[in-house]
Amino acid sequence: MNKERIFDVKNNINNDKKIVNQIYKSNNKKYFITTYGCQLNVHESEKLAGVLEELGFTHTEQMAEAKIIIYNTCAIREGAEDRALGNIGSLKKFKQKNKDVILIVCGCMTQQKENAQKLKNMFPFIDIILGTSNLHEFKSILLNFIKEHKKICNINDDFNLTSENMPLYRTSGENAWVNIMQGCNNFCSYCIVPYVRGRERSRPLKDIIQEIIHIIKENKYKKITLLGQNVNSYGNDLKENEFQEKPTFAKLLKEICSLEGDFKLTFMTSHPKDLTSDVIDVIANNDKMLKEIHLPIQSGSNKILKLMNRNYSVEKYLSIINEIKEKIPNVRLSTDIIVGFPQETDEDFNETLELLKKIKYDNVFAFMYSKRSGTPASIMEGQVDEKIKKIRVNKVLQLVKSLSKK
Ligand code: SAH
Ligand code: SF4
Ligand code: F3S
Repeated sequence: MNKERIFDVKNNINNDKKIVNQIYKSNNKKYFITTYGCQLNVHESEKLAGVLEELGFTHTEQMAEAKIIIYNTCAIREGAEDRALGNIGSLKKFKQKNKDVILIVCGCMTQQKENAQKLKNMFPFIDIILGTSNLHEFKSILLNFIKEHKKICNINDDFNLTSENMPLYRTSGENAWVNIMQGCNNFCSYCIVPYVRGRERSRPLKDIIQEIIHIIKENKYKKITLLGQNVNSYGNDLKENEFQEKPTFAKLLKEICSLEGDFKLTFMTSHPKDLTSDVIDVIANNDKMLKEIHLPIQSGSNKILKLMNRNYSVEKYLSIINEIKEKIPNVRLSTDIIVGFPQETDEDFNETLELLKKIKYDNVFAFMYSKRSGTPASIMEGQVDEKIKKIRVNKVLQLVKSLSKK
């Protein structure tokens, strides 16, 4: 950034602060954020916090003393949505008593227009609703509300706009999250993410490197975690001439590992159909890489994997795991499992249990299939009874427990 630009930015921040100070005359300028969902959302809450800190607000863990309350929502399963709805609903009385508190709801749940509308109708006391695609407008939307006090429900359809240039207030201890891409192209038949996060957009390699150099210089973080819904397809949408050759995920990892500094590097999440040998080699051959891989299998049945549109077979998955175990001794492996996907029979489910016994993961995250409206799986025949889903998820948890004891 050149000097004039820095002056401009500082000037703008001071003007914004003035607007906030005119309204909030007391010293109580605290904010409280509740985050649901994945690490991506945790990191986006760090961006919301970055904006608020820049405006002179400070973080509090006590909702009752906050002047700004934010719910950053998740839509991955019904449970996540229900928890957010319950918590927002319980604020009704608090909002009646504290008229000056600004209540903001954002994230994956509100990115769906019908959900945003539902929230608006159910809880008219919400002041600002925004989606994932217009997170970067958070500051201007908030300042507008502070000036004009008109309720705002602003959801954008254009996912090309990014939030990469927002200020950051990191809250994850020694770990620094770094976004390398947004969105997902995979359309697994059960998953809402492509609808609420748009298509894959890779961040330019030089921007990622710049952010990481900055993190290393700050000297506060021991671990850097690269974030994306499908990190292995990083670079597929970038142009070739940027670094003479097309950036790939393996090249990005190598480039980061070559930076000087005392840090460990890891990433999430990998898709088995895209995890290539060159990425496994980088993890195996670089001291900076943590020896861990989270590789969601979802199901041990080829029939179910096909219905899920995962684009790999159990055999292909096992061959990747074998390569990983051969090249990276003592690697820590973890996975995600969905039980009770439509048409999953006892036999299909047993294949998942057998696979867990074979691979012996260090960590397993098991979920009951949750119908997401608008996804192909939600209208598939053979939906599985909730009771059976519960029995199956408990069986997975029991098996994982007994395997870890051994
Ligand atoms: N992009 C990552 C995972 C994102 S969501 C990947 O593809 O691996 C995290 C996990 O939530 C998924 O791995 C899956 O196991 C689970 N999940 C996603 N949609 C779900 C649904 N409709 N019902 C139950 N679990 C779901
Ligand atoms: Fe969802 Fe599949 Fe994309 Fe993961 S890869 S975010 S499960 S659509
Ligand atoms: Fe949830 Fe959105 Fe993450 S749906 S899992 S917060 S990308």
